Amino acid sequence: MDTIEIRKPDDFHLHLRRSELLRKVLPHTVNQFARGLIMPNTRPGPIITNEHVDNYRNEICSVLTKDQLAEFSPLMTIQITQETTPEIINKAEQARAIAAKIYPQGVTTNSENGVVDFRGLYPVFETMQELDMVLSLHGESPQEMVPGLEKEKTFLHTLRMIARDFPKLRIVLEHITTEDAVKCVLELPETVAATITVHHLFLTLDDVIGYSKDSKGLMQSHNFCKPIAKTVYDRAALRKVATSGNPKFFFGSDSAPHLKGSKECASVCAGVFTAPVALPLLCQMFEYLGHLEDRLEPFVSEFGAKFYRLPLNSERICCVKKEWIVPQEYDGIVPFMAGQKIYWQVET
Ligand code: DOR
Ligand code: ZN
Repeated sequence: MDTIEIRKPDDFHLHLRRSELLRKVLPHTVNQFARGLIMPNTRPGPIITNEHVDNYRNEICSVLTKDQLAEFSPLMTIQITQETTPEIINKAEQARAIAAKIYPQGVTTNSENGVVDFRGLYPVFETMQELDMVLSLHGESPQEMVPGLEKEKTFLHTLRMIARDFPKLRIVLEHITTEDAVKCVLELPETVAATITVHHLFLTLDDVIGYSKDSKGLMQSHNFCKPIAKTVYDRAALRKVATSGNPKFFFGSDSAPHLKGSKECASVCAGVFTAPVALPLLCQMFEYLGHLEDRLEPFVSEFGAKFYRLPLNSERICCVKKEWIVPQEYDGIVPFMAGQKIYWQVET
């Protein structure tokens, strides 16, 4: 099979940034996705009030042309900090934020204002449960003594606790990287789902720290993200569940652009810019795993929308099997797989 036509997909985890960077990255997503769930960890100024939600949505829409506006909708989120109140959540819901995101403190890019005390946020979770607003979790423990590679596994205790205490609250464990997370989400009730990125379907830790064949012994800073890619066994578990047809697991790219200078330096920012290659690489991976025809469309275009209780997109998109080499950069931002061959592309 060398073409595939599917319902236009959604990206349920997307960093668009602001100003100049927003202008540079947004077209890459609009080309492939009908909707994106926009992450709130922007700088300067995180999205932590209803006014921020409105302003950020307006800024994103102002960057889109009239035609693009008809084709793409930003779905907004608000960030929960330790200071977030039920009143803030109520107002955010009125501002049409469909999810509230928690970054545990210090675990990733722009998370210094993140959460340490999850129980202290129970009144906020109570309100979200009543409003039917989705809780989106960056699932890594903020505790300093927990080693980086164990942070996701350790966080699962917190996830289990919140799911137990708020049985009607819909929760998404974002960008899962471990077999432990897969098992945990499978065990928990229907209210708990997970997103999977394209880079975590391709990478292991060795592709970041220079032990894989492709990395030729060199550290690959463009593959560095949080949570960091784990073992081949973990990746196998992600590949298996992503192509299993289980609606609890759906696509969120976590495309996280940083300017080249912030990725090629001594203190590298976490984040992989996958937007330009997301759908082609998903085609490639699902084909490789023998599930292009039956399981790609539900994973990218149906399960997420159903979990978020949004209508399915009616537009369609075509991908063709045609090789191309990923450019070394797009306007100062290095994409995932830069300089490498990809076997699928989106038909324009
Ligand atoms: O690698 C990451 N980059 N992980 C995140 O959770 C945040 C993101 C970013 O904003 O750059
Ligand atoms: Zn993210």
